[in-house]
Amino acid sequence: MSGETLSNLLSEGRRFPPPAALAAEANVTAEAYERAAADGEAFWAAAADRLDWAAPWTQVRDWSDPPFARWFVGGRLNAAYNCVDRHVEAGNGERVAFHWEGEPGDTRTLTYADLKDEVSRAANALLALGVQAGDRIAIYMPMIPETVVAMLACARIGAPHTVVFGGFSADALRGRILDCDAHVVITADGGYRKGAASALKPAVDEAVAQCPDVRSVLVVRRTGQDVAWTEGRDVWWHELVAAQYAEHEPEAFDAEHPLYIMYTSGTTARPKGILHTTGGYLTQAAWSHWAVFDVKPDRDVYWTAADIGWVTGHSYIVYGPLANGVTSVLYEGTPDTPHQGRWWEIVQKYGVTILYCAPTAIRTFMKWGEEIPERFDLSSLRLLGSVGEPINPEAWVWYRQAIGGDRCPVVDTWWQTETGAQMISPLPGVSTCKPGSALRPLPGISAEVVDDAGNPVPNGSGGYLVLTQPWPSMLRTIWGDEQRYIDTYWSRFPGYYFAGDGAKKDEDGDIWLLGRVDDVMNVSGHRISTTEVESALVSHPYVAEAAVVGAADPTTGQGIVAFVILRGAGERAAATAQGDDLAKELRSHVAKEIGPIARPRQLLVVAELPKTRSGKIMRRLLRDIAENRALGDVTTLTDSTVMDAIREGLPSGA
Ligand code: WTA
Repeated sequence: MSGETLSNLLSEGRRFPPPAALAAEANVTAEAYERAAADGEAFWAAAADRLDWAAPWTQVRDWSDPPFARWFVGGRLNAAYNCVDRHVEAGNGERVAFHWEGEPGDTRTLTYADLKDEVSRAANALLALGVQAGDRIAIYMPMIPETVVAMLACARIGAPHTVVFGGFSADALRGRILDCDAHVVITADGGYRKGAASALKPAVDEAVAQCPDVRSVLVVRRTGQDVAWTEGRDVWWHELVAAQYAEHEPEAFDAEHPLYIMYTSGTTARPKGILHTTGGYLTQAAWSHWAVFDVKPDRDVYWTAADIGWVTGHSYIVYGPLANGVTSVLYEGTPDTPHQGRWWEIVQKYGVTILYCAPTAIRTFMKWGEEIPERFDLSSLRLLGSVGEPINPEAWVWYRQAIGGDRCPVVDTWWQTETGAQMISPLPGVSTCKPGSALRPLPGISAEVVDDAGNPVPNGSGGYLVLTQPWPSMLRTIWGDEQRYIDTYWSRFPGYYFAGDGAKKDEDGDIWLLGRVDDVMNVSGHRISTTEVESALVSHPYVAEAAVVGAADPTTGQGIVAFVILRGAGERAAATAQGDDLAKELRSHVAKEIGPIARPRQLLVVAELPKTRSGKIMRRLLRDIAENRALGDVTTLTDSTVMDAIREGLPSGA
């Protein structure tokens, strides 16, 4: 973020106190901050008491071997039981768990009782496939109820799931299956996106062709499109699951039993398998969902408009809302299918009261114009949330006014795949919100903004965001790579968790997130590493070298801009003849290797890249070019004429 934007942010003077009616009935009041500050362990113990435990814990937090934390030591519980059965046992079986809306307009309603039957059947089906506690299961699905059922079935039998976003390529899926050594994959023939059936099974077939240990592929029929079938390996969900008993006795697992692995981009080409365990994760997912969204399970209709393939979907479509027994909306498709008012139509239809989405969506709606939401009755909304990237004050205010009728608080929630749950956020019944600020750590969470030397910065200054105390839903490690876990998160500032985000404290000490400080881009709220895209580019036969930067983008937050050097004279000549087609081909190549979300917005062929004397590409300078800025300090460059050459070679307007 440029200095100018930063000072604009901090001169943002608008203030929005909590609505009195909401504050009067809020689940959490200012008292929580004091209670947590007085005794953090007692605070989290009380939060964990909101769950049902089969055996009590003997210790709230074990931090005797940092950075390896254990929470609720000795406690035993079943996550699926907590998300489903206990609500049925409490007499709420008829409450709707999900109003599901398919993109073509087909719908399904699942009550908690329905969910219990479905999850039990699916758990029995997994057992029939030979799955045992501890076995990993990959899930590659569209946004349909079976995806939630599959996750909970895994949790129920103690088989950690790894959900791979359906927009990822076969290669990306294969990498994740192999990394966590999953032997079973759950998928669907396809799902509906942008008005058409979009296939998933072919990518699974392609991925699994090189995963010799995958023995079963369980396939949900969603679109009815033709699928290739491997006898003995592929099994239809509707045949296997439907044939099972709807009774399954959940087993209690240790609080530290692995619940899931979620892969996320880091600063190298290889994604990291973030491991979350059961007791601490579920405690914080449930508590934060209850506190930050102020959910009233008997009244609210809650909607996280995100994909289950990301952590936001895990914590705030599946585990948090279900642990709280809330009614949610689950929507399969895109916001502009069949028209740009689709989300607002859904809000109106189901009477959505709480909406949680990413700033990139909000900025897109701003671009489409507020006359679109104006056509719908959005009066049911009472609270709005934002997640995934910094929200600029204008988008925040637009969200509050055009969607929230100027009455709904907007909670800007900062957190990460690694944190498992929200960490820095307003509390809607307590906080006076500032557009663009996530304000302060939630009760029980300790964050700080530090300088290069690890010292807290004074109010009014910026630095790196760190977390100074372990928290219940923190990642436990990177799957199969403890050293990388230590190096990535705990080595930059000893004793502190390094989040990889820049942040600033304002004069009140409130926190403003400023985006990543490492080589990770944030495109439409999706984390993509520059190295991952670079290595996809150099896997193309024409490309010798590539450098990728995230450049500011008015809609997607950042856009991917790639600079490539072509190989050998022959390829160069052939490529020059191809002109624009080459850029298009290389961009598509990245989409094929990683997934469409990683397709560069812009690709420039250059003769040389700016490098330091030690050979490191100076992405900062490329970013200056991509964002049309005057170049920063070039003194560490080996050859400062390189930058002139790059600029001269740019197509006009690039
Ligand atoms: C960014 C998504 C500013 C940040 C839950 C973080 C945010 C990364 C916010 C994690 C926010 C998330 N304000 N930036 N409210 N929320 N981020 O793992 O850079 O997909 O490090 O988790 O998104 O992305 P992830």
